[in-house]
Amino acid sequence: MKEEIINLLKKEGKLSNETIDEIKQVDVNDFTNIVEEIGKEKTEYIKADEISKDLNTKYIGKNLYVFKEVQSTNTIAKFLSANGAPDGSVIISERQTAAKGRSGKSWESPLGGVWLSIVLNPHVDHSKLPLITLATGVAVAKTLEKIGIENPEIKWPNDIFINGKKTCGILTEAIAKFNTIENVIVGVGIDVNVDIDNFPETLKEGSTTIEKELGERISESYLIKTFLEEFENISDLFDNEGFEAILKEWRKRSYSIGKIVEVREPFNKYYDGYVIGINREGALIVEKIDGTLEKVISGECIIKN
Ligand code: BTN
Repeated sequence: MKEEIINLLKKEGKLSNETIDEIKQVDVNDFTNIVEEIGKEKTEYIKADEISKDLNTKYIGKNLYVFKEVQSTNTIAKFLSANGAPDGSVIISERQTAAKGRSGKSWESPLGGVWLSIVLNPHVDHSKLPLITLATGVAVAKTLEKIGIENPEIKWPNDIFINGKKTCGILTEAIAKFNTIENVIVGVGIDVNVDIDNFPETLKEGSTTIEKELGERISESYLIKTFLEEFENISDLFDNEGFEAILKEWRKRSYSIGKIVEVREPFNKYYDGYVIGINREGALIVEKIDGTLEKVISGECIIKN
């Protein structure tokens, strides 16, 4: 079973539900040992000690795994959280062989990017999930501002854009029991120093990197440390002042409000409209051509102007 787990966690290949169930049966300690063994492989750019050294957080990133290559940090995070990983555990990999994007898409994850997942044990109901996603977008935007990017913008729900091009995507996944979310996995992918010339043609034009925008490389470890601190700050802001405070930060950086968009909601519900704003549940409010209002909770929102 050990070899099987290593292969499945590292190499490309589909993880079937049966395999996932099988892995979940593995003794917690055995599983954690295997993960830690993979974690001993030497990484090129991202160093756990550089991240941990001055990390100024109470719980985010205190339990930290840095891998050279895995299928998907979200998948590892799911296994670890099912096996009792503490709140705020962070899983990072220099490369991902089968990374997941939103809406069932794949995600390019070569060396030079920041690909990480955070395990949260928030015990919240389903309706709070979009709020965690929006808060993460604000934390990424604030991180980019700190390292010198002038005007990072958030395209609903949580793509980060610089000068009209995407540089970061966020995939939040919930592990639920009945109607309560037990654990949330927040997956963040940032194109820091990656070579987008090797990206598929369809992605190349709409993507940018931090290196391109800053005109110089920035240390991935430093960016991760800064992001983990911003993430904890946002989570404190939420606890102390409530979601309205986060929405205020989100609105200030919105790329979507005031734009004409094509909305693609699940079950082929497509329409055009004008984005009026975002409400307290994190839903986008869109005015359709006929003047009626729609509340968009999930789906894609393609900017047309
Ligand atoms: C998007 O489609 O915009 C979301 C992309 C999310 C990618 C990140 S990279 C780290 C984590 N692991 C994954 O497999 N996906 C997320």
